[in-house]
Amino acid sequence: MYEIIALIELSLWFGLPAWIANATPVLLGGGPPIDGGRVLRDGHRILGDGKTIRGFVVGVIFGTLAGTAQSFVAPLIPDVLSEFVLITSDMETVLFMTIPIAVLMSIGALTGDLIGSFLKRRIDIKSGNPSPVMDQLGFIILALLFASPIIQPAPIYVMILVSFTLAIHWISNALGYLLGLKKHPW
Ligand code: CTP
Ligand code: MG
Repeated sequence: MYEIIALIELSLWFGLPAWIANATPVLLGGGPPIDGGRVLRDGHRILGDGKTIRGFVVGVIFGTLAGTAQSFVAPLIPDVLSEFVLITSDMETVLFMTIPIAVLMSIGALTGDLIGSFLKRRIDIKSGNPSPVMDQLGFIILALLFASPIIQPAPIYVMILVSFTLAIHWISNALGYLLGLKKHPW
């Protein structure tokens, strides 16, 4: 049982810089859009007003800050964790966050977010309208890809991280709907 909890904890720990990078633009973004308002030949914006330069920059900064904080805490964790589980080398891999990993994951997350918006515009989904797959998977997959030259977590961690990323998004949307903050439960 503890093994499963440790697996989940470590997966979420590893994904934290990407999540922070993806979440902070919502709070601190805004200003001029990255695409400069330009429209492609299909008549739709390249990215749309939802993707701003400031949002990209604050996302990278805060994702990196989160990973930097984690890199200081990481060396203290094995002592605590080893009271509950046997620490494997797979665990150590995802545990030791470093600043370069955090930078790559943050830039990857924001890039994945842009790719998602680019694709949404191509299939005529307006800025702000949801696309259940692109909104949630783009950022986490690209964060993992960008970091992959430095770190390759065992597949189980990737699977847990991706599943939780999808689940958390859906749970928070459903909650927002139940609380009356959102019009739709998706
Ligand atoms: N945001 C930003 N810059 C970014 C990403 C996000 O400023 N690079 C801000 C915008 O205010 C955006 C909000 O965060 O409206 C929510 O982000 P997101 O859901 O990713 O964008 P959407 O507005 O839904 O646009 P899209 O349909 O392109 O995803
Ligand atoms: Mg959105």
